[in-house]
Amino acid sequence: MDTVKVAIIGCGNIFPMHAQSVKENPNTELVAVCDNKPERANERAIEMDCKSYTDYVDMLDKETLDAIHICLPHYLHAPVSIEVTKRGLHVLTEKPMAIKYQDAEAMLSTARAYNTHFGVIFQNRYNAGAQLIKTMLTEGTLGSIQSAKASVTWDRSDEYYSKSDWKGTWDKEGGGVLIDQAIHTLDLMRWFIDAELEYVDATISNRGHEYIEVEDAAEGILKFKSGVVAAFHTINYYTYDAPVQIEIHCEKGLIKMIGDKGMVSLYDGREFIADHNPNETFSYGVGVKSYWGVNHIKQINNFYHVLLHGGELDIKPEEALKTQEMINAIYQSGKENRRITFEARRSND
Ligand SMILES: NC(=O)c1ccc[n+]([C@@H]2O[C@H](COP(=O)([O-])OP(=O)(O)OC[C@H]3O[C@@H](n4cnc5c(N)ncnc54)[C@H](O)[C@@H]3O)[C@@H](O)[C@H]2O)c1
Repeated sequence: MDTVKVAIIGCGNIFPMHAQSVKENPNTELVAVCDNKPERANERAIEMDCKSYTDYVDMLDKETLDAIHICLPHYLHAPVSIEVTKRGLHVLTEKPMAIKYQDAEAMLSTARAYNTHFGVIFQNRYNAGAQLIKTMLTEGTLGSIQSAKASVTWDRSDEYYSKSDWKGTWDKEGGGVLIDQAIHTLDLMRWFIDAELEYVDATISNRGHEYIEVEDAAEGILKFKSGVVAAFHTINYYTYDAPVQIEIHCEKGLIKMIGDKGMVSLYDGREFIADHNPNETFSYGVGVKSYWGVNHIKQINNFYHVLLHGGELDIKPEEALKTQEMINAIYQSGKENRRITFEARRSND
């Protein structure tokens, strides 16, 4: 395969990050886009100079494709991914993998059974600050991790929810601030700590929104088998998207991540800082929100590099599955108002 033939399903907010990345990659060709809103599909197809579909099964039946990007509401990630995989095509889906852990597991096991590539977007892992922190933790410069905390205080208005036909619902979004916004920060914190989870103890509630079913606040602790306790506090009823924060207290220093910036202060006086390079830009188009960062293209390029040349994805699907399990355990803890241990969760599956 010289050129990978690609289609994107879902032409909403996140579509440009995928479409422009595919257009930019010399080894991929955007053959078609699909959205069940015909005017949206047509508009995007004209913009990207490709074919347009309103029914993804019809598109899969008619087109010769190699890979599909899933940019759909959360409840559609699992069924569409599994349908696509069973046709032998590779899948790159937006976060979260799915709403339910069992569905996410099925997505991955189907990809393994059909020997196809499967990736889940967590583009913030490519942020310069996150890369610095991960590298220094992996090299052992900081010694062991003692504890950690994360905070996400963002703004998702009633209008944000009322404009969407799926956000704010348990059945279609699968939750609120946790599964949609804070998932990125909690994924980073879990990746930094890099240990198996022992239990979560959390609360979820809706405190600031009138019309949504799902939580707009979640807080709790994540206890890792390494002994590390990590606290988190996430809300989306703040008045702006404040930079997310992670702090990690280590044996030999302190790590802070504020927004995209990573800062490592070693107790011997050495300081390391990495931030987004302002010269590193990529235009995903007019009106595309800057807080999604520039890193979709990096993860998408890595996906196609692995597809064409072999090797392992930078962000392995098993990692996305672990984050999915963590998020689902937090929901379970919040809904059942009790500590959820991972051993018990698995033995009940
Ligand atoms: N990685 C990130 O930072 C980031 C940022 C934003 C969104 N996302 C993720 O991207 C995904 C999409 O989010 P969004 O904000 O673009 O949503 P959106 O509602 O703007 O877009 C979803 C699109 O899917 C279409 N659709 C719904 N059902 C369909 C079906 N059966 N067939 C074809 N099209 C269908 C809708 O018409 C809509 O255009 C979600 O998983 C979300 O969490 C990720």
